[in-house]
Amino acid sequence: MERGVPFLDAAARGACTESLNEGAFAKTPAFYTSFTKLGARIHTRLMRGAFDGERKQNKTKPMKTPKTILAATLGVAMSIPVVVGAPLPPPRPNAGTPPPPTAGILNPPPPPTGANVPLPPGATPPPPPPGRAIPIVGLDAAKSRDFTDGLDEFTKVETAAGGLGPIFNDVSCVACHRAGGVGGGSRVFVTRFGKVVDGAFDPMVSEGGPLLQRRAISPEFVERVPLTANVVIRRITTPVFGLGLMEAIPDAVIRAGAVAKGDGIAGKVAVVTDPVSGKEGVGRFGWKAQHASILGFSADAYLNEMGITNRYFPTENAPNGDAGLLARADVVADPEDPANGVTEKGDVDRAGDFMRYLAPIPRAKATARSAAGERTFAAIGCVKCHTPAMSTGAHSVAALANKRVELYSDLLLHDMGSLGDGMPQGAAGAREMRTAPLWGLRLRDMYLHDGRAITVDAAVRAHDGEARIVKDRYVALKDADRAALLEFLGTL
Ligand code: HEC
Ligand code: HEC
Repeated sequence: MERGVPFLDAAARGACTESLNEGAFAKTPAFYTSFTKLGARIHTRLMRGAFDGERKQNKTKPMKTPKTILAATLGVAMSIPVVVGAPLPPPRPNAGTPPPPTAGILNPPPPPTGANVPLPPGATPPPPPPGRAIPIVGLDAAKSRDFTDGLDEFTKVETAAGGLGPIFNDVSCVACHRAGGVGGGSRVFVTRFGKVVDGAFDPMVSEGGPLLQRRAISPEFVERVPLTANVVIRRITTPVFGLGLMEAIPDAVIRAGAVAKGDGIAGKVAVVTDPVSGKEGVGRFGWKAQHASILGFSADAYLNEMGITNRYFPTENAPNGDAGLLARADVVADPEDPANGVTEKGDVDRAGDFMRYLAPIPRAKATARSAAGERTFAAIGCVKCHTPAMSTGAHSVAALANKRVELYSDLLLHDMGSLGDGMPQGAAGAREMRTAPLWGLRLRDMYLHDGRAITVDAAVRAHDGEARIVKDRYVALKDADRAALLEFLGTL
């Protein structure tokens, strides 16, 4: 795959990607300032497009952006006219602290040695500063190199010549995965659609569903949510910190957690087919636990978020299912990301390595109050789903073998009642969601699958279905006890 030619500096590229992504959210002074480099005209165009998103979903006209501006904006070898055709988020008047500035996220990674130095016993490791990516402790030299190579891949800006598009959601993994450092979650959301007819869910595959690609390499290809869709939802970006540890938890350990736990809580194992092995496995990644392996998710993301076909997903998405349009739009031979003849790795594998070896966010130091809050978290039953820790099993990579993984999730699906998103996927029914892992929670500023909660308290109060009884206990807590519980969550 071709590299984008970086004729903008890293900070400017970061700012551009950010603006394309999150126009309506990122109206901070820093955001405006960062644009002075590129000129007010580009800014105006982009922001106008972003605000168009306030119009009704299906009526939104695509924003046509001149090639010249976009070539400069994306900093790529070929000009990629990017069209924003789907709704962008409505402004959130009380969205709290804006996300940290991301200029610099594309900075070169720290050398793998040094970042790997073990901490003295008892020390509280600080969370990585934004822009840094820290690997798990104990990787050998070869795996450290895989991590660094993977970071390069994860932050690489893809170009149309290299296979981007014809329809896509963004130009790099880090464009969406970035809050709190490379690999974080963010407020960036994707739109999914489908329709329910006589109680049966139709993902509208023949019309480009269930995932909307809201950009295209040329205006004529841009996708719309079909007017006949009656389920249209958003999902915000989940973090990929610590993913290798999550992957290394044996299926049997997750299965063992799916027992009746009282208060109407049981949980369902998400058995899914892994696109890499073609075999069934226990799904654990994504809001719906829809993937069982990191590589499977990576390959899915390359196709569905960036339009890059690969050996696990070799078929390009046709714009709203239109094969005729695709025939004209798709100029790069598939798979656009073949495996390298020597290393046998493609981009999907390299980005997978990065996520596999990316360290989880270390917990902040506990206080007396947060320790009390942690006890309340257990006592009222949050731990019935948010399992504090599980263990990895045997693993070919020593740094991932037999490790305690403090992820605060059972990795099971639960019927969340009104909090479900109405979108069956993988093994998950319409109301079923994966227990969101709570590690790294303090780096986030928007919660729940659609970002409906902007405080942790609101996220807990929105729990429903199987979590109803536990939620009611949370609501009934004395204010001081609830504050302590929230202080505990703030250490994760
Ligand atoms: C347009 C924004 C966007 C881009 C670009 C993007 N992602 Fe994501 N990513 C998301 C969203 C949204 C989710 C949650 C999806 C869901 O569960 O439905 C997600 C989830 C994931 C997860 C699951 C983590 C977990 O366990 O919850 C992985 C792994 C992942 N992405 C990898 C990648 C890789 C690799 C790339 C680059 C090829 C990429 N993503 C590009 C938005 C994006
Ligand atoms: C029945 C299982 C269950 C119980 C009990 C439960 N949760 Fe959750 N929790 C979930 C699921 C599932 C999600 C993801 C919801 C979604 O998809 O929007 C979640 C999400 C969250 C989130 C948002 C995380 C994010 O990434 O956005 C927080 C915070 C949270 N839970 C805290 C709590 C606390 C505190 C309690 C105890 C009062 C609790 N939960 C009890 C299942 C549960």
